[in-house]
Parts: sequence; structure tokens; C-alpha cells
Amino acid sequence: MTMKQTTLILIKPDGVRRGLTGHILARIEAKGYRIEAMHMLTATAEQLAAHYHEHVDKPFYPGIVRYMTSGPLVAAIVSGHRVIEGVRSLSGATDPTIAAPGTIRGDYGFDTGSDAIENLIHSSDSPQSAEQEKRVWF
Ligand code: TYD
Ligand code: MG
Repeated sequence: MTMKQTTLILIKPDGVRRGLTGHILARIEAKGYRIEAMHMLTATAEQLAAHYHEHVDKPFYPGIVRYMTSGPLVAAIVSGHRVIEGVRSLSGATDPTIAAPGTIRGDYGFDTGSDAIENLIHSSDSPQSAEQEKRVWF
């Protein structure tokens, strides 16, 4: 029996604004994962720079900051066996136009034409990033 894993998710400002917070969380819970902690906040520049440290020098980073500070977001810690892969799979591909139907991004995301990709949800991509991201948001 392996230890239960945790991941960090963000319901991004477009998800909150569109009233999809409960819906997205319900899909994660219905899959079988458990919400361990959750709060709503407006991201600071410092939190975003830590969270997106691998992207701070990319040309799209200023667009990410505008998008991610455009309203409150919901941060949550979710647990379950293989939850990191599981929530990444539920979330779908980064580009919501390409994300498969049946995924959260594929079903509810669309190209807004803005300079950042708006795609409703973030989820950690490895145990290392989950630990680092939990420290950023909690
Ligand atoms: P990335 O880590 O590549 O995607 P994912 O969220 O699927 O792990 O990128 C982080 C976020 O940065 C992504 O969700 C949306 C934004 N982004 C852009 O706005 N433009 C881009 O070209 C890329 C690659 C990402
Ligand atoms: Mg990523």
C-alpha cells in the first residue's frame, strides 16, 4: 500500500468568474479524490512568480499575470492515490481548443483570443511541484 498523494489545484479566475468552481470541484470529487483544504484569494505578483517560476522569462508571462490577477481564484489541496496524474488527466491539455472533450479544459475552456491561455484549472505535474506549490498557496 503506497502513501496517499496530494496535489495542488487552482480554479483560475475565469473558472470562478463563470461560476464553475463548484462544478469543477464536483468532477474532482466524483472521480474519487478528496479535498483536504481550500480557500479563495486574489493572487499576488510574488505568488505567481513563485508558482510559475519556469515561465517568468517567457513572452507570455505578463499575460499570465494579467489573467491570473483578474479576479479571485480558489486554491485547494486534493488527495488520493495517483492524484497528480489523475487530476492532470481530468484537466486535459493546456490549450482548451485542443483539450479532449470529456476533460475540464476540453468541455468548458475556449480560446478567448487574449495573450494568455485561459484554461480554468491548474494542477501540479509532479510530487516536487506539488510540495513547492502547496507552500506558495497555503
Ligand atoms: P504549462 O505549465 O505549459 O501548462 P499546464 O498548465 O498545462 O501545466 O503552462 C502554464 C500556464 O501558462 C498554462 O496553463 C497557460 C499559460 N500559458 C500561456 O498562456 N501561453 C503559453 O504559450 C503556454 C505554454 C502556457
Ligand atoms: Mg505546468
